Amino acid sequence: MSATVINGKELAKKLRADIRERVNQFIEETKVVPHLVVILVGDNPASVSYVTGKQKACEETNMKSTLIKLPVETTEEELIKIINDLNADKSVHGILVQLPLPKHIDEQKIINTICVEKDVDGFSPINVGKMILNEECFLPCTPAGIIKMIKETGIEIAGKHAVVIGRSNIVGKPVSQLLLQENATVTICHSRTKDLKYHTLQADILVVAIGKPKFVTKDMIKPGAVVIDVGVNRVDNKLCGDVDYEGALEVASYVTPVPGGVGPMTITMLMENTLEAAKRLTR
Ligand code: GUN
Repeated sequence: MSATVINGKELAKKLRADIRERVNQFIEETKVVPHLVVILVGDNPASVSYVTGKQKACEETNMKSTLIKLPVETTEEELIKIINDLNADKSVHGILVQLPLPKHIDEQKIINTICVEKDVDGFSPINVGKMILNEECFLPCTPAGIIKMIKETGIEIAGKHAVVIGRSNIVGKPVSQLLLQENATVTICHSRTKDLKYHTLQADILVVAIGKPKFVTKDMIKPGAVVIDVGVNRVDNKLCGDVDYEGALEVASYVTPVPGGVGPMTITMLMENTLEAAKRLTR
């Protein structure tokens, strides 16, 4: 079997064209330009690259973006003050603090400072709680992008056994929740899971988000499975995912590539959330 590659880049391009149209319509009606502020503390190369991608996507969708670059020694108090000012600024609709933050800053405290209405990452406790209750909220971008990608490819989720490897707050936990809401049967695996391969071999849909290059090998994939690779790892100066891509192509039915898979979808969902934030704040 040779799997079909799910082209996240192409799909994201199509979705961004649609978002751009809706942004233009919104601007015409309200004279307000949706505005995302991204805060970057320090100069972690991966974070710099993600932030650049987010700014480019704002341009592509005709939204305004502002990047606030802060030195690595910025204190928690300074960062909180900046966020509070942005919370109060009516011209700002979305606030995103790029993670990870330097060790001396409490990430959750920072996330909790962003007002819920501008939390376009969907990381605040209120948005997370609403997501679990299936209430209207900002969905976290990577999980939302994964679900969108699976659905747009025409793959049925209901009734499938989805296995998620990883239990992070950003990906593993929320994607498991969204798959459950789509009526999948969900298993969450993590670093303490015994006999991981037993579980992965049950997966009709396998989502891998652990940050270990080429960790999932073809012998761990059920023939015909849909494999979603969330990992972004740099090996010998080349990007690769958490899945052995070549091996997965041999056994799976669908595979997402790295780069060009989940990443562009994540940023597209951020654009969707920013437009939605602007709409809600402009009502
Ligand atoms: N770092 C890695 N992924 C993300 C994300 O989705 N949002 C933020 N803010 N930081 C991240």
